[in-house]
Amino acid sequence: MITFEGVTKRYPDGTVALDGLDLQAPSGRTTVLVGSSGSGKTTALRTVNRLVEPTGGRVLIDGTDVRERDPALLRRSIGYVIQQAGLFPHRTVLDNIATVPLLLGWGRRRARSRAAELLELVGLEAAQGRRYPHQLSGGQQQRVGVARALAADPPVLLMDEPFSAVDPVVRAGLQEELLRLQSELHKTVLFVTHDIDEAVRLGDGIAVFRPGGVLAQYDTPERLLAEPVDAFVEGFVGYDRGVRRLSFFPASRLDLHTDAVLDGGRTAGAAARTAASTGEPWLLVTGADRAPLGWLSAERAAAADPDRPLESLELEGYGHIFHVEADSLRAALDAAMLSPAGRAVGVDPGGAVVGVVSQADLAAAIWGDHG
Ligand SMILES: Nc1ncnc2c1ncn2[C@@H]1O[C@H](COP(=O)(O)OP(=O)(O)OP(=O)(O)O)[C@@H](O)[C@H]1O
Ligand SMILES: [Mg+2]
Repeated sequence: MITFEGVTKRYPDGTVALDGLDLQAPSGRTTVLVGSSGSGKTTALRTVNRLVEPTGGRVLIDGTDVRERDPALLRRSIGYVIQQAGLFPHRTVLDNIATVPLLLGWGRRRARSRAAELLELVGLEAAQGRRYPHQLSGGQQQRVGVARALAADPPVLLMDEPFSAVDPVVRAGLQEELLRLQSELHKTVLFVTHDIDEAVRLGDGIAVFRPGGVLAQYDTPERLLAEPVDAFVEGFVGYDRGVRRLSFFPASRLDLHTDAVLDGGRTAGAAARTAASTGEPWLLVTGADRAPLGWLSAERAAAADPDRPLESLELEGYGHIFHVEADSLRAALDAAMLSPAGRAVGVDPGGAVVGVVSQADLAAAIWGDHG
């Protein structure tokens, strides 16, 4: 556990970068620091590895004041990842990763084999280890940065906007990777970001800082989105927090309808009768293995030759689907919003249709449970 006890940093010019920070970041968990620019996040991180010495209060790691530790030794026991990875340009990727093990006196062979192991762990190929940082993409360099921070297996990892310099797709991949690593390694992670979605995705707890280096709120992601303590935090987490919060509720709790789902081998006449008896304005047509084929409106069904099989009719695209077991209400709502029928198609892991849900059903589910 990392404990900040009344930590203050006042610079000689009078700037208060951090003002009496009290915060406990639990062991084995990811605590995310967010907040406006200049609100003291980087300062807070750097008091942990003593790159910044507080002018008041203290920082403890598992109960020991970091000031009792030799700064150089302390830093070797803490992984530190910064924006743009901060790799040594004239060292190969493997040598970059092996930096701390070598400093710890592991010997060249053991350090290199550890580096090779980490390269694989963060999803890079062995051949990339022999390259220099400038021969890698930004996202690959960030992976090397993470590997280097993990090399000596430190219990604590400080990450200061590590993924902010890469595009959204690469970023999502790196976040995924970090979640996977964390589920295996259980480091005590302090992670700074400006991206509230990233914070919600990665954080077990989120600390929101306000200007002047003051902690505004420290909560679980879900509570932060549900109950921001004041207008500053609310503005910071964004006015679409209601929609974001839906990502905490599983889609599996939705009641999906199957009465308007028809096999493509059925006829237009059967579809028209189904539409009439159920009152459903849209029918979902499925093909082999119950995979979705597309939407048919009740009007089109009634107007078509009643003997024609549904799979031979022109259908509206079903848009994107949601996975009933794995996705959240947010994904289901998104699918319904984008669907030409105003209905989302839920599928099982094999891609077979489980049922459909309308925007109105979704609104009822969301409103009923979490309004
Ligand atoms: N060496 C210094 N001397 C004086 N002021 C400093 C010094 N280093 C940082 N500051 C100030 O301390 C405050 C907090 O800076 P810090 O880097 O911790 O903010 P941050 O929350 O990480 O911001 P950002 O989101 O922009 O990275 C800022 O006002 C900054 O200008
Ligand atoms: Mg910063």
